[in-house]
Amino acid sequence: MSLAAGRWPWWLLFSCGMGLVGGDELCPTKCTCRLLEVVCSGLMEYPHDMPLTTRQLVLKENNITYLPAISLGLLNDLVYLDCRSNQIMEIMDYTFIGVHKLIYLDISFNNISQISPYGFSMLNNLVILNISNNPHLKQISKYTFGNNTALRHLDLSNTGLEFLDVHSIQHLFNLKALYLKGNPWNCDCTLVDFSIHLIVTNIEYPDKLNATCKEPAEMIGWPLTMVGNPLRYKCLTHLDRQDYAFLLLIGFCIFSGGTVAAWLTGVCAVLYENIHRKAEDEEIDEEIENERPNRNRVFRYKHAKSFDSMNHHFV
Ligand SMILES: *[C@@H]1O[C@H](CO)[C@@H](O)[C@H](O)[C@H]1NC(C)=O
Ligand SMILES: *[C@@H]1O[C@H](CO)[C@@H](O)[C@H](O)[C@H]1NC(C)=O
Ligand SMILES: *[C@@H]1O[C@H](CO)[C@@H](O)[C@H](O)[C@H]1NC(C)=O
Ligand SMILES: *[C@@H]1O[C@H](CO)[C@@H](O)[C@H](O)[C@H]1NC(C)=O
Ligand SMILES: *[C@@H]1O[C@H](CO)[C@@H](O)[C@H](O)[C@H]1NC(C)=O
Repeated sequence: MSLAAGRWPWWLLFSCGMGLVGGDELCPTKCTCRLLEVVCSGLMEYPHDMPLTTRQLVLKENNITYLPAISLGLLNDLVYLDCRSNQIMEIMDYTFIGVHKLIYLDISFNNISQISPYGFSMLNNLVILNISNNPHLKQISKYTFGNNTALRHLDLSNTGLEFLDVHSIQHLFNLKALYLKGNPWNCDCTLVDFSIHLIVTNIEYPDKLNATCKEPAEMIGWPLTMVGNPLRYKCLTHLDRQDYAFLLLIGFCIFSGGTVAAWLTGVCAVLYENIHRKAEDEEIDEEIENERPNRNRVFRYKHAKSFDSMNHHFV
Protein backbone atom coordinates (compact mmCIF):
# COMPACT_ATOMS: atom_id res chain seq x y z
CA MET A 1 0.00 0.00 0.00
CA SER A 2 2.66 2.45 1.06
CA LEU A 3 4.70 1.57 -2.02
CA ALA A 4 1.76 2.18 -4.37
CA ALA A 5 0.92 5.50 -2.70
CA GLY A 6 4.54 6.58 -3.05
CA ARG A 7 4.47 5.92 -6.79
CA TRP A 8 1.30 8.02 -7.45
CA PRO A 9 2.90 11.46 -7.84
CA TRP A 10 5.48 10.10 -10.28
CA TRP A 11 2.83 8.61 -12.50
CA LEU A 12 0.76 11.80 -12.35
CA LEU A 13 3.76 13.96 -13.17
CA PHE A 14 4.75 11.71 -16.06
CA SER A 15 1.24 11.74 -17.46
CA CYS A 16 0.94 15.52 -17.19
CA GLY A 17 4.33 15.98 -18.79
CA MET A 18 3.27 13.80 -21.71
CA GLY A 19 0.09 15.79 -21.93
CA LEU A 20 1.92 19.10 -22.14
CA VAL A 21 4.46 17.91 -24.64
CA GLY A 22 2.10 15.84 -26.75
CA GLY A 23 -0.62 18.44 -26.56
CA ASP A 24 -3.39 15.87 -26.98
CA GLU A 25 -4.20 15.34 -23.34
CA LEU A 26 -5.43 18.93 -22.89
CA CYS A 27 -8.60 20.02 -24.59
CA PRO A 28 -10.41 23.33 -24.01
CA THR A 29 -13.83 23.14 -22.36
CA LYS A 30 -16.72 22.92 -24.83
CA CYS A 31 -14.34 21.48 -27.42
CA THR A 32 -13.60 17.98 -28.57
CA CYS A 33 -10.08 17.14 -29.60
CA ARG A 34 -9.33 14.19 -31.81
CA LEU A 35 -5.92 13.58 -33.32
CA LEU A 36 -4.91 17.04 -34.51
CA GLU A 37 -8.45 18.35 -34.97
CA VAL A 38 -10.33 20.53 -32.48
CA VAL A 39 -14.06 21.20 -32.79
CA CYS A 40 -15.80 23.64 -30.45
CA SER A 41 -19.40 24.69 -29.92
CA GLY A 42 -21.36 26.94 -27.58
CA LEU A 43 -18.56 29.50 -27.30
CA MET A 44 -18.83 33.25 -26.82
CA GLU A 45 -15.11 33.82 -27.29
CA TYR A 46 -12.03 32.11 -28.68
CA PRO A 47 -11.10 29.21 -26.34
CA HIS A 48 -7.95 29.27 -24.25
CA ASP A 49 -5.51 26.40 -23.84
CA MET A 50 -5.78 25.23 -27.40
CA PRO A 51 -3.41 22.30 -28.07
CA LEU A 52 -0.39 23.82 -29.80
CA THR A 53 -0.21 21.01 -32.34
CA THR A 54 -3.70 21.68 -33.68
CA ARG A 55 -3.86 21.44 -37.45
CA GLN A 56 -7.57 21.71 -37.98
CA LEU A 57 -9.72 24.07 -35.93
CA VAL A 58 -13.48 24.17 -36.37
CA LEU A 59 -15.15 27.06 -34.56
CA LYS A 60 -18.24 27.25 -36.77
CA GLU A 61 -21.62 28.28 -35.38
CA ASN A 62 -20.44 29.91 -32.19
CA ASN A 63 -20.85 33.53 -31.12
CA ILE A 64 -17.19 34.53 -31.26
CA THR A 65 -16.74 38.27 -31.92
CA TYR A 66 -12.99 38.49 -32.05
CA LEU A 67 -10.01 36.33 -33.06
CA PRO A 68 -7.06 37.06 -30.71
CA ALA A 69 -3.88 37.20 -32.80
CA ILE A 70 -1.57 36.07 -30.01
CA SER A 71 -3.49 32.93 -29.02
CA LEU A 72 -4.15 32.03 -32.65
CA GLY A 73 -0.52 32.73 -33.52
CA LEU A 74 0.64 29.96 -31.17
CA LEU A 75 -0.84 27.38 -33.54
CA ASN A 76 2.13 27.17 -35.87
CA ASP A 77 0.88 24.07 -37.66
CA LEU A 78 -2.67 25.23 -38.28
CA VAL A 79 -3.72 24.55 -41.88
CA TYR A 80 -7.53 24.59 -41.61
CA LEU A 81 -9.61 27.23 -39.83
CA ASP A 82 -13.37 27.27 -40.05
CA CYS A 83 -14.97 30.30 -38.36
CA ARG A 84 -18.18 30.23 -40.36
CA SER A 85 -21.31 31.61 -38.66
CA ASN A 86 -19.88 33.69 -35.84
CA GLN A 87 -20.03 37.40 -34.97
CA ILE A 88 -16.52 38.43 -36.02
CA MET A 89 -16.53 42.12 -36.93
CA GLU A 90 -13.04 42.90 -38.12
CA ILE A 91 -9.93 41.32 -39.61
CA MET A 92 -6.95 43.31 -38.39
CA ASP A 93 -3.35 43.51 -39.61
CA TYR A 94 -2.13 40.97 -37.11
CA THR A 95 -5.11 38.64 -36.84
CA PHE A 96 -3.45 35.82 -38.81
CA ILE A 97 0.18 36.78 -38.31
CA GLY A 98 1.32 33.48 -36.77
CA VAL A 99 -0.63 30.94 -38.81
CA HIS A 100 1.35 31.16 -42.02
CA LYS A 101 0.72 27.51 -42.96
CA LEU A 102 -3.01 28.12 -43.28
CA ILE A 103 -4.48 26.60 -46.46
CA TYR A 104 -8.21 26.88 -45.75
CA LEU A 105 -9.92 29.88 -44.13
CA ASP A 106 -13.67 30.24 -43.85
CA ILE A 107 -14.98 33.45 -42.29
CA SER A 108 -18.34 33.40 -44.05
CA PHE A 109 -21.59 34.33 -42.26
CA ASN A 110 -19.98 36.72 -39.81
CA ASN A 111 -20.49 40.46 -39.41
CA ILE A 112 -17.19 41.61 -40.88
CA SER A 113 -17.28 45.25 -41.91
CA GLN A 114 -13.57 45.82 -42.26
CA ILE A 115 -10.60 43.83 -43.51
CA SER A 116 -7.27 45.52 -42.96
CA PRO A 117 -5.18 45.77 -46.19
CA TYR A 118 -2.55 43.47 -44.62
CA GLY A 119 -4.98 41.21 -42.79
CA PHE A 120 -4.10 38.21 -44.96
CA SER A 121 -0.56 39.26 -45.88
CA MET A 122 1.12 36.40 -44.00
CA LEU A 123 -1.04 33.70 -45.57
CA ASN A 124 1.23 32.82 -48.50
CA ASN A 125 -0.12 29.25 -48.63
CA LEU A 126 -3.81 30.03 -48.54
CA VAL A 127 -5.72 28.07 -51.22
CA ILE A 128 -9.35 28.57 -50.21
CA LEU A 129 -10.68 31.82 -48.76
CA ASN A 130 -14.36 32.24 -48.04
CA ILE A 131 -15.51 35.74 -47.08
CA SER A 132 -19.09 35.30 -48.29
CA ASN A 133 -22.18 36.46 -46.44
CA ASN A 134 -20.73 39.46 -44.64
CA PRO A 135 -23.28 42.06 -45.74
CA HIS A 136 -21.54 44.98 -44.02
CA LEU A 137 -18.29 44.45 -45.88
CA LYS A 138 -18.32 47.41 -48.28
CA GLN A 139 -14.78 47.45 -49.60
CA ILE A 140 -11.62 45.43 -50.08
CA SER A 141 -8.28 47.16 -50.54
CA LYS A 142 -6.17 46.46 -53.60
CA TYR A 143 -3.44 45.17 -51.23
CA THR A 144 -5.66 42.72 -49.36
CA PHE A 145 -4.76 39.63 -51.42
CA GLY A 146 -1.28 40.90 -52.33
CA ASN A 147 0.52 37.92 -50.81
CA ASN A 148 -2.14 35.26 -51.36
CA THR A 149 -0.78 34.09 -54.70
CA ALA A 150 -1.61 30.43 -53.95
CA LEU A 151 -5.36 31.20 -53.86
CA ARG A 152 -7.50 28.88 -56.00
CA HIS A 153 -10.99 29.54 -54.63
CA LEU A 154 -12.12 32.98 -53.52
CA ASP A 155 -15.70 33.47 -52.38
CA LEU A 156 -16.80 37.11 -52.17
CA SER A 157 -20.52 36.47 -52.63
CA ASN A 158 -23.32 38.09 -50.63
CA THR A 159 -21.26 40.91 -49.23
CA GLY A 160 -21.76 44.68 -49.48
CA LEU A 161 -19.18 45.06 -52.25
CA GLU A 162 -20.14 47.55 -54.96
CA PHE A 163 -16.67 47.80 -56.41
CA LEU A 164 -13.45 45.79 -56.58
CA ASP A 165 -10.12 47.18 -57.69
CA VAL A 166 -8.74 45.02 -60.49
CA HIS A 167 -5.30 45.18 -58.85
CA SER A 168 -6.62 43.22 -55.89
CA ILE A 169 -7.02 40.02 -57.97
CA GLN A 170 -4.98 40.63 -61.14
CA HIS A 171 -1.87 38.86 -59.79
CA LEU A 172 -3.70 35.74 -58.52
CA PHE A 173 -2.52 33.48 -61.34
CA ASN A 174 -3.63 30.30 -59.57
CA LEU A 175 -7.20 31.48 -59.11
CA LYS A 176 -9.64 28.92 -60.51
CA ALA A 177 -12.98 29.99 -59.09
CA LEU A 178 -14.28 33.40 -58.09
CA TYR A 179 -17.72 33.81 -56.52
CA LEU A 180 -19.33 37.21 -56.95
CA LYS A 181 -23.10 36.76 -56.67
CA GLY A 182 -25.46 38.71 -54.46
CA ASN A 183 -23.34 41.87 -54.21
CA PRO A 184 -24.72 45.34 -55.03
CA TRP A 185 -22.26 45.80 -57.93
CA ASN A 186 -22.23 49.33 -59.28
CA CYS A 187 -21.38 48.86 -62.96
CA ASP A 188 -20.28 52.41 -63.73
CA CYS A 189 -17.02 53.44 -65.36
CA THR A 190 -14.96 52.79 -62.23
CA LEU A 191 -15.63 49.07 -62.72
CA VAL A 192 -14.47 48.94 -66.33
CA ASP A 193 -10.98 47.50 -65.65
CA PHE A 194 -12.31 44.84 -63.30
CA SER A 195 -15.09 43.77 -65.66
CA ILE A 196 -12.68 43.54 -68.61
CA HIS A 197 -10.31 41.45 -66.47
CA LEU A 198 -13.18 39.04 -65.73
CA ILE A 199 -13.50 38.46 -69.50
CA VAL A 200 -9.85 37.99 -70.38
CA THR A 201 -8.82 35.55 -67.61
CA ASN A 202 -9.47 31.83 -67.38
CA ILE A 203 -11.17 32.10 -64.00
CA GLU A 204 -14.48 30.26 -63.58
CA TYR A 205 -17.52 32.03 -62.16
CA PRO A 206 -19.76 29.25 -60.85
CA ASP A 207 -22.48 31.75 -59.88
CA LYS A 208 -22.03 34.11 -62.83
CA LEU A 209 -25.70 34.35 -63.79
CA ASN A 210 -26.55 35.58 -60.30
CA ALA A 211 -23.67 38.06 -60.07
CA THR A 212 -25.47 41.04 -61.57
CA CYS A 213 -25.26 44.81 -61.57
CA LYS A 214 -27.51 46.68 -59.17
CA GLU A 215 -26.55 50.12 -60.45
CA PRO A 216 -26.71 52.31 -62.56
CA ALA A 217 -30.30 52.07 -63.85
CA GLU A 218 -29.42 51.11 -67.44
CA MET A 219 -27.20 48.25 -66.25
CA ILE A 220 -29.48 46.61 -63.69
CA GLY A 221 -29.64 42.85 -64.15
CA TRP A 222 -26.61 42.56 -66.45
CA PRO A 223 -24.29 39.74 -65.36
CA LEU A 224 -21.06 41.26 -64.09
CA THR A 225 -19.02 38.86 -66.22
CA MET A 226 -20.59 40.24 -69.40
CA VAL A 227 -20.49 44.02 -68.88
CA GLY A 228 -16.81 44.36 -69.82
CA ASN A 229 -17.40 45.18 -73.48
CA PRO A 230 -20.41 47.50 -73.07
CA LEU A 231 -18.54 49.35 -70.33
CA ARG A 232 -15.41 49.59 -72.47
CA TYR A 233 -17.47 51.07 -75.29
CA LYS A 234 -19.29 53.45 -72.99
CA CYS A 235 -16.36 54.55 -70.87
CA LEU A 236 -13.25 54.32 -73.03
CA THR A 237 -14.51 55.49 -76.44
CA HIS A 238 -17.36 57.70 -75.35
CA LEU A 239 -16.55 61.42 -75.26
CA ASP A 240 -18.01 63.75 -72.66
CA ARG A 241 -18.65 67.47 -73.06
CA GLN A 242 -15.41 67.98 -71.16
CA ASP A 243 -13.51 65.91 -73.75
CA TYR A 244 -14.97 67.98 -76.58
CA ALA A 245 -13.93 71.18 -74.79
CA PHE A 246 -10.46 69.75 -74.39
CA LEU A 247 -10.25 68.76 -78.07
CA LEU A 248 -11.46 72.25 -79.10
CA LEU A 249 -8.82 73.82 -76.91
CA ILE A 250 -6.11 71.60 -78.42
CA GLY A 251 -7.36 72.42 -81.94
CA PHE A 252 -7.29 76.13 -81.19
CA CYS A 253 -3.77 75.84 -79.78
CA ILE A 254 -2.53 74.01 -82.88
CA PHE A 255 -4.25 76.55 -85.18
CA SER A 256 -2.88 79.60 -83.38
CA GLY A 257 0.52 77.95 -83.05
CA GLY A 258 0.55 77.38 -86.83
CA THR A 259 -0.47 80.97 -87.53
CA VAL A 260 2.23 82.38 -85.31
CA ALA A 261 4.80 80.06 -86.88
CA ALA A 262 3.79 81.12 -90.41
CA TRP A 263 3.95 84.81 -89.46
CA LEU A 264 7.39 84.33 -87.90
CA THR A 265 8.59 82.51 -91.03
CA GLY A 266 7.32 85.38 -93.21
CA VAL A 267 9.02 87.99 -91.04
CA CYS A 268 12.24 86.04 -91.10
CA ALA A 269 12.12 85.62 -94.88
CA VAL A 270 11.57 89.35 -95.43
CA LEU A 271 14.30 90.31 -92.98
CA TYR A 272 16.70 87.87 -94.59
CA GLU A 273 15.96 89.14 -98.05
CA ASN A 274 16.47 92.74 -96.93
CA ILE A 275 19.78 91.97 -95.30
CA HIS A 276 20.87 89.94 -98.29
CA ARG A 277 19.95 92.68 -100.73
CA LYS A 278 21.68 95.31 -98.62
CA ALA A 279 24.81 93.18 -98.51
CA GLU A 280 24.72 92.75 -102.32
CA ASP A 281 24.26 96.47 -102.88
CA GLU A 282 27.18 97.22 -100.62
CA GLU A 283 29.30 94.72 -102.51
CA ILE A 284 28.46 96.31 -105.84
CA ASP A 285 29.18 99.74 -104.44
CA GLU A 286 32.45 98.52 -103.07
CA GLU A 287 33.38 96.98 -106.38
CA ILE A 288 32.60 100.17 -108.21
CA GLU A 289 34.57 102.18 -105.68
CA ASN A 290 37.46 99.76 -105.85
CA GLU A 291 37.58 99.86 -109.62
CA ARG A 292 37.36 103.62 -110.08
CA PRO A 293 40.61 104.69 -108.39
CA ASN A 294 42.52 101.96 -110.21
CA ARG A 295 41.32 103.14 -113.53
CA ASN A 296 42.18 106.71 -112.57
CA ARG A 297 45.58 105.61 -111.43
CA VAL A 298 46.21 103.75 -114.68
CA PHE A 299 44.86 106.69 -116.57
CA ARG A 300 47.05 109.06 -114.62
CA TYR A 301 50.06 106.82 -115.01
CA LYS A 302 49.58 106.46 -118.70
CA HIS A 303 49.14 110.15 -119.12
CA ALA A 304 52.10 110.87 -116.86
CA LYS A 305 54.19 108.58 -118.98
CA SER A 306 53.13 110.22 -122.17
CA PHE A 307 53.70 113.62 -120.61
CA ASP A 308 57.11 112.46 -119.53
CA SER A 309 57.99 111.26 -122.98
CA MET A 310 56.64 114.45 -124.40
CA ASN A 311 58.75 116.37 -121.91
CA HIS A 312 61.73 114.33 -122.96
CA HIS A 313 61.02 115.23 -126.51
CA PHE A 314 60.81 118.84 -125.68
CA VAL A 315 63.85 118.82 -123.39
C1 LIG B 1 -25.54 33.04 -30.21
O1 LIG B 1 -26.39 34.17 -30.08
C2 LIG B 1 -27.72 33.92 -30.49
C3 LIG B 1 -28.47 35.21 -30.32
O2 LIG B 1 -27.76 36.30 -30.77
C4 LIG B 1 -28.33 32.84 -29.63
O3 LIG B 1 -29.63 32.53 -30.08
C5 LIG B 1 -27.46 31.60 -29.71
O4 LIG B 1 -27.94 30.62 -28.84
C6 LIG B 1 -26.04 31.92 -29.35
N1 LIG B 1 -25.22 30.75 -29.56
C7 LIG B 1 -24.32 30.35 -28.69
C8 LIG B 1 -23.54 29.15 -29.10
O5 LIG B 1 -24.11 30.95 -27.67
C1 LIG C 1 -22.90 44.15 -37.48
O1 LIG C 1 -22.09 45.27 -37.72
C2 LIG C 1 -22.80 46.47 -37.88
C3 LIG C 1 -21.79 47.56 -38.16
O2 LIG C 1 -20.76 47.10 -38.92
C4 LIG C 1 -23.58 46.79 -36.63
O3 LIG C 1 -24.34 47.97 -36.86
C5 LIG C 1 -24.51 45.63 -36.31
O4 LIG C 1 -25.14 45.87 -35.08
C6 LIG C 1 -23.74 44.35 -36.21
N1 LIG C 1 -24.64 43.25 -36.03
C7 LIG C 1 -24.49 42.34 -35.09
C8 LIG C 1 -25.51 41.26 -35.04
O5 LIG C 1 -23.56 42.39 -34.30
C1 LIG D 1 4.53 38.80 -48.04
O1 LIG D 1 5.19 37.65 -47.57
C2 LIG D 1 6.56 37.82 -47.34
C3 LIG D 1 7.16 36.49 -47.00
O2 LIG D 1 6.40 35.82 -46.08
C4 LIG D 1 6.74 38.87 -46.25
O3 LIG D 1 8.10 39.07 -45.99
C5 LIG D 1 6.11 40.16 -46.68
O4 LIG D 1 6.18 41.11 -45.66
C6 LIG D 1 4.67 39.94 -47.05
N1 LIG D 1 4.12 41.12 -47.68
C7 LIG D 1 3.31 41.94 -47.04
C8 LIG D 1 2.79 43.10 -47.82
O5 LIG D 1 2.96 41.75 -45.90
C1 LIG E 1 -18.45 29.75 -48.66
O1 LIG E 1 -19.32 29.69 -47.57
C2 LIG E 1 -20.68 29.61 -47.92
C3 LIG E 1 -21.49 29.67 -46.65
O2 LIG E 1 -20.83 29.15 -45.57
C4 LIG E 1 -20.93 28.33 -48.70
O3 LIG E 1 -22.28 28.24 -49.09
C5 LIG E 1 -20.05 28.36 -49.94
O4 LIG E 1 -20.16 27.13 -50.66
C6 LIG E 1 -18.60 28.55 -49.54
N1 LIG E 1 -17.80 28.75 -50.75
C7 LIG E 1 -16.81 27.95 -51.11
C8 LIG E 1 -16.07 28.33 -52.34
O5 LIG E 1 -16.50 26.96 -50.47
C1 LIG F 1 -29.72 32.27 -59.01
O1 LIG F 1 -30.69 32.64 -58.06
C2 LIG F 1 -31.92 32.01 -58.22
C3 LIG F 1 -32.88 32.54 -57.17
O2 LIG F 1 -32.78 33.93 -57.08
C4 LIG F 1 -31.78 30.50 -58.07
O3 LIG F 1 -33.01 29.85 -58.33
C5 LIG F 1 -30.74 30.01 -59.08
O4 LIG F 1 -30.50 28.62 -58.88
C6 LIG F 1 -29.46 30.78 -58.93
N1 LIG F 1 -28.53 30.38 -59.97
C7 LIG F 1 -27.23 30.19 -59.74
C8 LIG F 1 -26.42 29.79 -60.91
O5 LIG F 1 -26.72 30.31 -58.62
